[in-house]
Amino acid sequence: MLVGVLLSALWVPTAAFDFDSACHSIASQAASIENTTVFFADLVPAGTTLTFPDQDPSCASTSSSQVALVDMCRVALNVSTSDRSGITMETWLPRNWTGRFLSTGNGGLAGCIQYVDLAYTVAQGFATVGANNGHNGTSGRLFFDNSDVLADFVYRSIHTNVVVGKEITRMFYGTPHKTSYYLGCSTGGRQGFKTVQDFPDDFDGVVAGSPAVNFNDLTNWQAHFHNILGNASSPTFIVADEWAGLIHDNILEQCDTIDGVADGIIEDPNLCDYKPEELICSSSSNSSGCLTPAQAGAVREVFSPMYDTRGKLMFPRQQPGSENPDLISSVYSEDVFSISQDWFHFVVFNPSFDVNTLDLKDYQIAEDLNPFNVATFNGDLSAFQSRGGKVLTYHGQADMLISPADTEFYYQHIARTMGLLPSEIDKFLRFFRVSGMSHCATGPGAWEIGQTLAGASGNLTSETLDPERNVLTAVVRWVEEGVAPDTILGTKYVNDTTALGVEFSRRHCRYPLRNIYDRTGDSKSPDSWSCK
Ligand SMILES: *[C@@H]1O[C@H](CO)[C@@H](O)[C@H](O)[C@H]1NC(C)=O
Ligand SMILES: *[C@@H]1O[C@H](CO)[C@@H](O)[C@H](O)[C@H]1NC(C)=O
Ligand SMILES: *[C@@H]1O[C@H](CO)[C@@H](O)[C@H](O)[C@H]1NC(C)=O
Ligand SMILES: *[C@@H]1O[C@H](CO)[C@@H](O)[C@H](O)[C@H]1NC(C)=O
Ligand SMILES: *[C@@H]1O[C@H](CO)[C@@H](O)[C@H](O)[C@H]1NC(C)=O
Ligand SMILES: *[C@@H]1O[C@H](CO)[C@@H](O)[C@H](O)[C@H]1NC(C)=O
Ligand SMILES: *[C@@H]1O[C@H](CO)[C@@H](O)[C@H](O)[C@H]1NC(C)=O
Ligand SMILES: *[C@@H]1O[C@H](CO)[C@@H](O)[C@H](O)[C@H]1NC(C)=O
Repeated sequence: MLVGVLLSALWVPTAAFDFDSACHSIASQAASIENTTVFFADLVPAGTTLTFPDQDPSCASTSSSQVALVDMCRVALNVSTSDRSGITMETWLPRNWTGRFLSTGNGGLAGCIQYVDLAYTVAQGFATVGANNGHNGTSGRLFFDNSDVLADFVYRSIHTNVVVGKEITRMFYGTPHKTSYYLGCSTGGRQGFKTVQDFPDDFDGVVAGSPAVNFNDLTNWQAHFHNILGNASSPTFIVADEWAGLIHDNILEQCDTIDGVADGIIEDPNLCDYKPEELICSSSSNSSGCLTPAQAGAVREVFSPMYDTRGKLMFPRQQPGSENPDLISSVYSEDVFSISQDWFHFVVFNPSFDVNTLDLKDYQIAEDLNPFNVATFNGDLSAFQSRGGKVLTYHGQADMLISPADTEFYYQHIARTMGLLPSEIDKFLRFFRVSGMSHCATGPGAWEIGQTLAGASGNLTSETLDPERNVLTAVVRWVEEGVAPDTILGTKYVNDTTALGVEFSRRHCRYPLRNIYDRTGDSKSPDSWSCK
């Protein structure tokens, strides 16, 4: 069953509205918007497999092809943002429009339109936009010597595509959108908070996942693992298999049952005070299956907060239990983390800078530089709050790429800046800690929360769109009906495959509440847990 309209639609077309001819005339209409060049406007019937031959090849891992789930009009255009920069963007306009507008975001430093997110949201009846973040491809090279491209990455791409996208939406349907939303994760989470902070009128409801806020220090922190671990010839280096096996298993031995269930999920990693010294090789053992004292010291440092030269907290600790086999070799790598390399080469210093020499002094320079306020750490959200905007943020508790402790750090910063208790913050911002979720998706936990098309597998049922278990429809209901989400019911499919059925579900609590198992019921039933 395809549910195009879950919540009551806000728009009913007039008899005069003809979708096909609207799609034929939108190209010339949109060309009248300042600074735009329209590439094409195509009618796309449901079921069409779209390919993206014009995108940079490095974007193929984000989107190589995408099936359109509903009938839509696909408009692609260029918008210049200065005399030496611009964005490429798409607007997907559904035949069955609900009257809602939505913008998607990006990931990493990437200039890649996230077509899968456009497909997911247009199928729910949103008029949807996505942009290339001001440059094409995953590299940050174009930031070097062109601060306008950097400005697009920091704030201007996401804002420009909303301004232009809303105008195209109005031209197309002959009436403005009624409500406006955002869905993004990682850099997309940062972009969501950037608009909440700096363009509070852009959205009524924002879903900002695993946000890369405190961005400069996040990039420093991601680089500093190389300072701790070194490379294969360093006495402190630890190979990926030992992180994924030896160390991860030992963390679970020490901490998995703190929550009362041995299920590979540390429900609240804040409660895990991991002691890697338990793995130090005894004098009689050989060196496999254990750590040298130098390695144990490095592991302890990986799981410790990062301070600047003056003793101020730069970035909170990595959470134990987050060792995702697919990410270990890039995060606890022999080289400086790739995004940090690009940032220091193309923004902080120059392409010939030797990133292997990065130290705290350089991290301080990066923090102070903070171009266009990419930190995205403004704690005053009062402009967004006072116009009735709502933010739903979530963060996987097993995210090793962006520690979920960073979102707690930001939440507490908001609380102090605005002088608000959690019960007051709850009125406009709710933060859900998703146990056993890695970076934005995957992991051993009940991580399918409607943040991606994954759980729906191209099959949007009323169950997958249920606001009790879907972060996007939850924020729509909050904005339009005033019903705020108290919990988010996450789903774990067998082998993360929808067709194999549900393995278990668990409700995720909003911060600062903690999920507590009753220690008697079936731990796979959400009703055996409660938020305390
Ligand atoms: C990005 O790629 C699109 C599609 O190939 C192209 O039209 C656009 O000019 C490119 N933008 C930049 C800044 O190179
Ligand atoms: C159009 O581009 C120019 C610079 O090229 C910029 O100053 C102006 O603000 C842009 N207009 C809009 C509506 O973005
Ligand atoms: C799109 O805009 C970019 C940046 O302003 C420009 O370099 C490129 O030539 C434009 N492409 C087209 C096809 O207009
Ligand atoms: C549009 O919505 C109507 C009513 O909800 C439904 O009957 C129809 O199948 C939908 N059409 C498409 C193309 O999704
Ligand atoms: C490993 O690190 C050491 C010390 O910084 C350096 O001298 C050496 O070149 C590095 N080796 C590799 C393969 O990167
Ligand atoms: C070290 O011990 C492991 C088992 O603990 C064994 O499999 C391995 O062969 C030993 N290696 C050496 C070099 O003795
Ligand atoms: C869609 O999901 C429903 C319920 O899980 C299932 O019965 C149906 O087979 C799925 N359809 C497709 C095309 O995957
Ligand atoms: C799930 O994946 C594992 C490992 O790939 C495999 O052994 C198992 O058979 C799969 N289970 C099902 C039900 O397909």
